[in-house]
Amino acid sequence: MQYRTFPKTGEKVSLLGFGTMRFPTLENGKINEQEAIRMIRTAIDSGINYVDTAYMYHNGESEVVTGKALKDGYRKKVLLADKMPVWMARDEKGMKQIFTNQLERLDDQVIDMYLVHNITKQIWKRVLQFNTLEFLEQKRAEGKIKHIGFSFHDDFECFKEVVDAYPWDFCQIQLNYMDVNFQAGLEGLKYAAARGIPVIIMEPLKGGKLTDLLPESIEKYWAEADVKRTPAEWALRWVADFPEVLTILSGMTTMEQLQENIRILSQAEPNSLTEKEHKIIAKVSDEYNNLIKYSCTACRYCMPCPQRIEIPAVINLYNEWHLYNGNPKIKADFNMWVSPKARPSVCTSCNACQSHCPQGLPVSEIMQKAKEIFE
Ligand SMILES: NC(=O)c1ccc[n+]([C@@H]2O[C@H](COP(=O)([O-])OP(=O)(O)OC[C@H]3O[C@@H](n4cnc5c(N)ncnc54)[C@H](OP(=O)(O)O)[C@@H]3O)[C@@H](O)[C@H]2O)c1
Repeated sequence: MQYRTFPKTGEKVSLLGFGTMRFPTLENGKINEQEAIRMIRTAIDSGINYVDTAYMYHNGESEVVTGKALKDGYRKKVLLADKMPVWMARDEKGMKQIFTNQLERLDDQVIDMYLVHNITKQIWKRVLQFNTLEFLEQKRAEGKIKHIGFSFHDDFECFKEVVDAYPWDFCQIQLNYMDVNFQAGLEGLKYAAARGIPVIIMEPLKGGKLTDLLPESIEKYWAEADVKRTPAEWALRWVADFPEVLTILSGMTTMEQLQENIRILSQAEPNSLTEKEHKIIAKVSDEYNNLIKYSCTACRYCMPCPQRIEIPAVINLYNEWHLYNGNPKIKADFNMWVSPKARPSVCTSCNACQSHCPQGLPVSEIMQKAKEIFE
């Protein structure tokens, strides 16, 4: 495993971090606990020392399973990251209660890396209104958290405002070769790094969208490269190439993905991609931009839908319909996987989803379009 240095403490942080938002699940949707624990422990045994969870992942189960995985001596081998979802609290008291719940769920006393979760313009206002940073400083003074950071899903202007407003220990942004100019983007990476704030990357594979069901035109570009790599390897190497990146979180769902990502980020040195390789990646990015209608990462921040529509699944099918030229298989998938009671036609355009979408997608509009195609 490659390691990079956390400037505040000089600690070595593994270049691959374990994101616990996409644990393997059982048919009933619950986490496959045994497999998830096996994966986290395999990751740590292989040198990964950064584990990222959050209050909302897997409906609160992620923190519990992460806590269990870190028993038996594993806790002391990692930096544990968790996050404050201020939007889930009614008031300051509610926010404090969430923190108490988190320690209980994790069955732990200390969280090493604590982030204000999912900062957007609206959420930043609430952070200030609830005195969140003062509360976190108090928790740091009590030894309950070690470092204060934030994760971010809004535009670069907002990112600058947040970065400049507080002496953050670290921050977390979405970055992959498709999102160079999206949200904080590459400019955000450079901006934070220039101010001495280490940057953690999330969604390096765009939630798996860059690795699965590749259109033929994309396969053709990858085949042009002198060195043959999987799409996951190209995407992870692209992020790892930036020396400003502290660690790259991937939400691995299978042991095979974990093993592959460990292999890749054990080898990927900063600034190691050649000019020719960068050009191929840029061509792939351009081609995807021509094909993808709506860039959903299936982060599920839009859920639950009051009408129970499985929004990320519908958007995914809508995109696939366009990627694969209206292949009838996609319609068959829709009929098989989307329950008749939770189809886009039940959308009331209440927009509860839209305000939470980190990608700023026009969800109700997409539901209308999906209805026209699939129903
Ligand atoms: N703080 C925030 O606001 C926020 C928001 C988003 C994420 N996060 C954190 O960041 C972490 C990383 O984001 P992410 O989970 O979206 O990461 P990601 O690496 O972009 O996506 C993970 C998905 O990529 C696919 N994948 C992973 N490794 C692969 C491989 N070697 N080959 C093929 N496919 C592979 C899997 O999809 P399939 O299962 O479909 O194969 C997996 O579920 C999250 O887990 C979470 O901890 C935080």
